[in-house]
Amino acid sequence: MHAAAPPVNVQSAVSAVNLVKVYGQGATSVRALDNVTVSLEAGQFTAIMGPSGSGKSTLMHCLAGLDSATSGDVLLGGTNLTELSDKQLTVLRRERVGFVFQSFNLMPTLTARQNILLPLDLAGTRPDRQWVDSLVEVLGLADRLAHRPAELSGGQQQRVAVARALVTRPDVVFADEPTGNLDSRTGAEVLDFLRRSVREFGQTVVMVTHDPVAASYADRVVLLADGRLAGEIQQPTPDTVLSAMRELGA
Ligand SMILES: Nc1ncnc2c1ncn2[C@@H]1O[C@H](COP(=O)(O)OP(=O)(O)OP(=O)(O)O)[C@@H](O)[C@H]1O
Ligand SMILES: [Mg+2]
Repeated sequence: MHAAAPPVNVQSAVSAVNLVKVYGQGATSVRALDNVTVSLEAGQFTAIMGPSGSGKSTLMHCLAGLDSATSGDVLLGGTNLTELSDKQLTVLRRERVGFVFQSFNLMPTLTARQNILLPLDLAGTRPDRQWVDSLVEVLGLADRLAHRPAELSGGQQQRVAVARALVTRPDVVFADEPTGNLDSRTGAEVLDFLRRSVREFGQTVVMVTHDPVAASYADRVVLLADGRLAGEIQQPTPDTVLSAMRELGA
């Protein structure tokens, strides 16, 4: 059973309450998350930063229902993920969450268009033509839709992955190092689009990154160190992020 949760901001899209994640057992166990309580606001772009091994990916995976915590709660909208069965979690991930990974993770045999529409196919939902068209247009993918991932540049592949993450209009888009494999110019295009999806479409975006410039596209940076919250920065700039990271020894 869960301890009584502290009040969480009603505007929050996703929050962690006293979240603990321990990998392994006994002497070799790792406490990847050590009592993290954090609330990420709806309609905001939040970056999660911290030294390597500080628990960023673990936190994101728990918030997104990709991994289960050892104790504590994850609230996505009004849903407590810890109370869901595996089957319910699968449906929730498919319908209410979007993902962008460092390695794009597109289906190699499908065209760009088929990749973008895949989450809707899996859910058996008909595409909203206007929404798909506007995503494709804003992401500059119109003339690449019939191509397979191998025929696209890294930046184009990542833009397809972003379109795929947004196509269901999920409650939250989670991105783990989305620009880690891109050069700075194509990375900037992807970051700019993620920010526009927040400003123009009201999307909620949560992004893990090592890059202070990438983090400066966010509205807020949440800092982790040793599995604990280590501060936050509102309206970050590359400089404020860099000095905060230096203080954490990253
Ligand atoms: N599956 C696992 N089994 C055991 N330990 C793990 C596992 N996944 C992560 N860890 C450990 O948990 C801690 C947090 O890992 P996590 O991947 O969340 O860090 P991170 O902040 O994302 O790091 P990076 O910046 O290098 O991606 C690390 O000490 C890591 O070694
Ligand atoms: Mg990581």
